[in-house]
Amino acid sequence: MEEVDFIKSVKDEIKDKNLKYVILTFGCQLNENDSEKIAGLVEKMGYSKANVFEEANLVIFNTCCVRENAEERLFGKLGEIKKMKETNNTIIAIGGCMMQEKSMLDKIKKSYRYVDIVFGTHTIGTLPEDLYKVIIKNEKVKNVIDIDGEIVEGLPIRRNDKFRASVTIMYGCNKFCSYCIVPYVRGRERSRNPEDILEEIRRLAKEGYKEVTLLGQNVNSYGKDDFKYCNPKVQTEINNFAKLLREVNNIDGIEKIKFMSPHPRDFTDDVIETIRECEKVTRIIHMPLQSGNSKVLKEMNRGYTKEQFLELAEKMKKRIPNLKLSTDIIVGFPGETEEEFEDTLDVVRKVEFEQIFMFIYSKREGTRAASREDQVPEEIKHKRFDRLKELYDSQVELQNEKYVGTVQSIMIEGPSKNDETKYCGRTDSNKVIVFKPNGKEKIGDIVNVKITENHKWFLVGEIM
Ligand code: SAH
Ligand code: SF4
Ligand code: F3S
Repeated sequence: MEEVDFIKSVKDEIKDKNLKYVILTFGCQLNENDSEKIAGLVEKMGYSKANVFEEANLVIFNTCCVRENAEERLFGKLGEIKKMKETNNTIIAIGGCMMQEKSMLDKIKKSYRYVDIVFGTHTIGTLPEDLYKVIIKNEKVKNVIDIDGEIVEGLPIRRNDKFRASVTIMYGCNKFCSYCIVPYVRGRERSRNPEDILEEIRRLAKEGYKEVTLLGQNVNSYGKDDFKYCNPKVQTEINNFAKLLREVNNIDGIEKIKFMSPHPRDFTDDVIETIRECEKVTRIIHMPLQSGNSKVLKEMNRGYTKEQFLELAEKMKKRIPNLKLSTDIIVGFPGETEEEFEDTLDVVRKVEFEQIFMFIYSKREGTRAASREDQVPEEIKHKRFDRLKELYDSQVELQNEKYVGTVQSIMIEGPSKNDETKYCGRTDSNKVIVFKPNGKEKIGDIVNVKITENHKWFLVGEIM
């Protein structure tokens, strides 16, 4: 039987039962995008989205294992759901990155026997078959594989937003940063056929989407795998990230382009030049620093030094007018000394990031850094986190002040929470702007707003 047959069988079996589903997503934007595909599949089978968790007949967990707290959240929720299983006979499925770890699979099998389906990051497309086995054959299903299968195109998708869309351009990661579990659970880098990507974005534009975010663990490695995971294998001119960006920039109807995440090591001059020339690419770029110390960076296997990062940031800001940077930072990597941590603060002072996502190092079994004996004590890690946060907070206050008097192009998200007569939206750097509508514009429109006041947690503006 093919996947379409499984979809049909399940659909026939559950029709007229008005069954509902819920998907809980624990991870990054790639994980979110996978959840949109999972939602597309289950809706094809006849499930509709539940309004509240308790009414769901099918609960799907899309897990993350990048840090320990993501795992803890899953187990908390799984405990809660056991009762629902007993009262509603709810089907429980767990997928995502965590299920690619053998120890987690074993834990689920041993301690959470009421789970019906486990599936991995490479087997989303076969979820219809899994559900078929549970509903029609009354079986428990384990559908996790380690190999990086061919890229599956054409899955249905149920997007979370009507105006902004995420498009995964490549799967997996080859970088093997020594702290990170992602390459183990997501497999090798696999670039999608550019024609499939562009077709998806053209379709989005036709449907009224204005903004796309191109996703991948290292988007600027796009094409480096020679498209060997595409079926059939692809010969194409659009064989790197810069060329792909230009093509996306040419699509009518798309007004804003973002991407997540590039790797500093592969931030070549042609990518910088392309961004400069492509007016739709937002002027805030996420560029993960991780640490500001060259020795730590080497041990992290990041492939750049403190000086190289600073030079790159400088060069980008020089070549792309009004460019702002956001970043990810890990504090308390094994062996990190006080002086080495100071280097991270130094880079933060110098680059003045618009946004910083800060993480306390979390030991991930199976990664190289996890086996080190010089782990930094929890207390010190937390102290460093607080110091970094304090520095960042003081920078944010000054940054907000600089917005006053500037014009920002933002998408109208809806009425302001505190004052329904006003609209709100966000700058590309994620700062909330509240403004009075003119009466002509509607939700989803991209408008120019002049910032007039800084209220610390939000900015006030006037529509132009
Ligand atoms: N591919 C992306 C990041 C993916 S994971 C990149 O390289 O930028 C998102 C972020 O989680 C990373 O940037 C890193 O800051 C953080 N992270 C990854 N592993 C971690 C760990 N073991 N402990 C703490 N933070 C971690
Ligand atoms: Fe993890 Fe490094 Fe790959 Fe990012 S580039 S996903 S941090 S291994
Ligand atoms: Fe988490 Fe997997 Fe993303 S581990 S951060 S959901 S790639």
